[in-house]
Amino acid sequence: MAFNPLNTLFGLFSLDLGIDLGTANTLVNVRGKGIVLNEPSWVAIDKRTKRPLAIGAEAREMVGRTPGNIVAIRPLRDGVISDFEITEAMLDYFIKKAHSQMFPLLEPRPRVVVGIPSGVTEVERRAVYDACISAGAREAYPIEEPIAAAIGAGLPIMEARGSMVIDIGGGTTEVAVFSLGGVVLSKSIRVAGDELDEDIMQYVRQKYNLLIGERMAERVKINIGSAYPLPEEKIMTVRGRSVITGLPESVDISSIEIREAMASSVSLVVDLVKAALDETPPEVVADLMEQGVALAGGGALLQGLAQRLSEEVKVRVWVAPDPLTAVAIGCGTLLQNLDTLRAILQSVDRSRRRVIAPAGL
Ligand SMILES: Nc1ncnc2c1ncn2[C@@H]1O[C@H](COP(=O)(O)OP(=O)(O)OP(=O)(O)O)[C@@H](O)[C@H]1O
Ligand SMILES: [Mg+2]
Repeated sequence: MAFNPLNTLFGLFSLDLGIDLGTANTLVNVRGKGIVLNEPSWVAIDKRTKRPLAIGAEAREMVGRTPGNIVAIRPLRDGVISDFEITEAMLDYFIKKAHSQMFPLLEPRPRVVVGIPSGVTEVERRAVYDACISAGAREAYPIEEPIAAAIGAGLPIMEARGSMVIDIGGGTTEVAVFSLGGVVLSKSIRVAGDELDEDIMQYVRQKYNLLIGERMAERVKINIGSAYPLPEEKIMTVRGRSVITGLPESVDISSIEIREAMASSVSLVVDLVKAALDETPPEVVADLMEQGVALAGGGALLQGLAQRLSEEVKVRVWVAPDPLTAVAIGCGTLLQNLDTLRAILQSVDRSRRRVIAPAGL
């Protein structure tokens, strides 16, 4: 990038932001300050004008309770940007909100490193870049979430020895293997926390004729959900509306039932990790056997998941110190090392070209 003296000036009055643009939650990490914003990636929209009425926590409060003319949506459902304009509005709002906490009177001109799902297309990557620039960023670096998650989890991805991260978010589960600052391989499926919530909703409806909302299902998952038998199984009272009478009803459900309800989705995650290990070069597998595999994203907190994965894939799987903030922390670390970031982006670019270009090119 050409030298621009104005950028030096902006640098004095602007924050550098690391942003985890997740399908479930968006986090903003300010360089030197830490995470200043952590809100659900929800936007409430006026159906008539199509304009956002509320963003973040306020919008999420409206879910399932909105009157007819307001709809609450998640613009990044399933790990892809399903609504670009709304994503742009959300990003703009979060950047300005984080910035105004420090420099209330100045227009934000931050440098931004933003984590995006690794399955996004080139067009979507560009869209995130454009959204950051139109929100005032003077430089923007969209980076695949697993790379940021690995750095946030403290994995030595710039070193020769290999490492692996499993990032289970709301929309996607992504597995990536690194060595020498490059991505050796990455895989993702659209099965993650949201899918587990849906499994629970479906199970409760089928077995108990009880309709429950997404938020209740998520609470059940967090409180009694598990991927491995618990030392002491639990019971939770679940409230909803009876399919038969249409009236409010509650049932007591056990953690054994919920584990069963989520079993096939959890197996898909296990299979993804197995498939990734299967394709990992033997030398790198040897490294993984030594240092284990890191688990990040909110899904890492599912009880017994690390244990289940460790047993099934025969490699120690450990939960990152703060799995929900790993991507935002990784983006923050990359902000402090923009040269490292550029090297990683170049390597990702090269590996993408390798995949796209026919052999011999
Ligand atoms: N204690 C917990 N047990 C199980 N799941 C949890 C727990 N805490 C959070 N989650 C789940 O983690 C998911 C959100 O994780 P995270 O914030 O990492 O997603 P995201 O980064 O926004 O999504 P993505 O990476 O797919 O874009 C939600 O599905 C949430 O229900
Ligand atoms: Mg994520």
